[in-house]
Amino acid sequence: MSTMIIILRNKRNIFNNYHAILGNKICARYEHAINKNEVVCLKRFHDIPGPKCYPLIGTLHQYLPFIGDYDAEAMDKNAMLNWRRYGPLVREHPGVRLLHLFDPEDIEAIFRHDDRYPVRRSHLAMFNYRTNKRNVYNTGGLLSTNGEEWWKLRSTFQKNFTSPKSVKVHVENTDQIVRKLVKAIKETYCNGDDFLKYLNRLNLEIVGVVAFNETFDSFTTLEQNKDSRSSKTIAAAFGSNHGIMKLDKGFLWKFVNTPLYKKLVESQEYLEKVAKDILIKRISFYKQKEEGQDNCLLKSFLNEPNIDMKDITGMMVDILMAAIDTTAFSTSFVLYHLARNKECQDRVYKEILSLLACKDSNITPEIVAKANYTRCCVKESLRLNPVAIGVGRVLQKDIALKGYLIPKDTVIVTQNMVASRLPQYVKNPLIFKPERWLRSSPEYENIHPFLSLPFGFGPRSCIARRLAEQNICITIMRLIREFEIGWMGGELGIRTHLINKPNNAVTLSFSSRDSFCHNREKMFMPMKSN
Ligand code: HEM
Repeated sequence: MSTMIIILRNKRNIFNNYHAILGNKICARYEHAINKNEVVCLKRFHDIPGPKCYPLIGTLHQYLPFIGDYDAEAMDKNAMLNWRRYGPLVREHPGVRLLHLFDPEDIEAIFRHDDRYPVRRSHLAMFNYRTNKRNVYNTGGLLSTNGEEWWKLRSTFQKNFTSPKSVKVHVENTDQIVRKLVKAIKETYCNGDDFLKYLNRLNLEIVGVVAFNETFDSFTTLEQNKDSRSSKTIAAAFGSNHGIMKLDKGFLWKFVNTPLYKKLVESQEYLEKVAKDILIKRISFYKQKEEGQDNCLLKSFLNEPNIDMKDITGMMVDILMAAIDTTAFSTSFVLYHLARNKECQDRVYKEILSLLACKDSNITPEIVAKANYTRCCVKESLRLNPVAIGVGRVLQKDIALKGYLIPKDTVIVTQNMVASRLPQYVKNPLIFKPERWLRSSPEYENIHPFLSLPFGFGPRSCIARRLAEQNICITIMRLIREFEIGWMGGELGIRTHLINKPNNAVTLSFSSRDSFCHNREKMFMPMKSN
């Protein structure tokens, strides 16, 4: 019989103030207390269902080809397998004590329980690389640093990232860049090509201008060359993210320069070079020209009193790493879903026509705010295909979940992607239905707020959430205003690196709405009121 842990709860402070007592005998000793307080018998962490765990290797054998049931690049499938076999709480030991959560109530409990400085256990090799390079960095950067040092960085940099006002100032610039994409599609895209390459270039351009007031000229013929600055920056951003998860699981890189670690270092070095060149250019520009219309994030960073250049360099590298693939992959999936769901695409088009009656009108913050249905499409696509399978946290205090004691220091992975595809939480979960988010729709569903968390939650959530949502929305609006979009491939799935990359080419077709839809346009035109 498994040992129980008896927890004497003090009702005023449910999780923190308890005495854990091992052994069933203790129940009798505490009989009196049981009547006065609430006593809960908690099972041990070890008793949580999960794959068989061996000494030293834990559950790592499950990731071995031909032997294990898991695929390191299909974490969504591993999670679904776990959920089917073991239920809503799954214990794993891939080198650390890890717990997967599928129930949004438990996910909520974890985030509500989070500390002032939520901790993530990720980017360990990158942290090691940066903290050993003191001539360039002061810290591991926002993505990999924890504790008070993380908060010092976050509170310094987040002001200009997060407020709705500071995000809106980038709408018109972003729209101008998306127009360059439209031009590139018209001039160079052949239906059925991999559109992801275009989206990577688009998002490098957007982040370049929004964050650093820097254009990479990504769509020019010269920049298509694989040795160009834009191509190498996109490759280095991908190279930085690609190995993170495998490096986090392993430890060999601590002793030898493994190929994955080497790739990470090369990629980081290239991003550092790009960041430093831009920083030097901007500083000398601002010295000469104090005034002028420049809303980029870098200018606001440089305006912060007492900020260290090394912290700015680190933040710039983090931005380059975090912005390109995430937004490009997310936009790929929105386009994929809209291309395969013509009714939804028509509804987006109808909405955009009502907001942008003239095709050449600029998209403004007010227009983005009114594009309710388009925003629901983005939300629905992020429910089905978030770029992260879930959110990672390290527990900083013990917690009780579903009758188990989950000890401090356990690594938690909230399995939002899989949970968002379960029928107990969403109606017909595998169907793309933006209406489920639209309050005015009869198909609106009251979805648990902790079920779909594509940008994480709380003080450690994505620093650029508003910006990213805005960028995707503008891209979708401009593209659907110009083109009818079709899908030329099969089912599009994911490969999970640190972020979920489409597992196949993003084969879209673009038909100009000018050529065939004069009548359709009329059909969708908002009715004139008398
Ligand atoms: C659709 C696009 C994006 C998605 C889905 C996304 C998602 C996420 C997620 C899930 C996290 C972890 C949150 C947590 O632990 O609670 C995160 C963190 C972060 N993201 Fe994003 N992100 C996106 C775009 C961006 C962009 C455009 C930037 C930069 C311009 C960015 C910068 C960051 C940074 C720096 C962090 C670390 C924040 C911290 O630890 O304090 N992300 N993002």
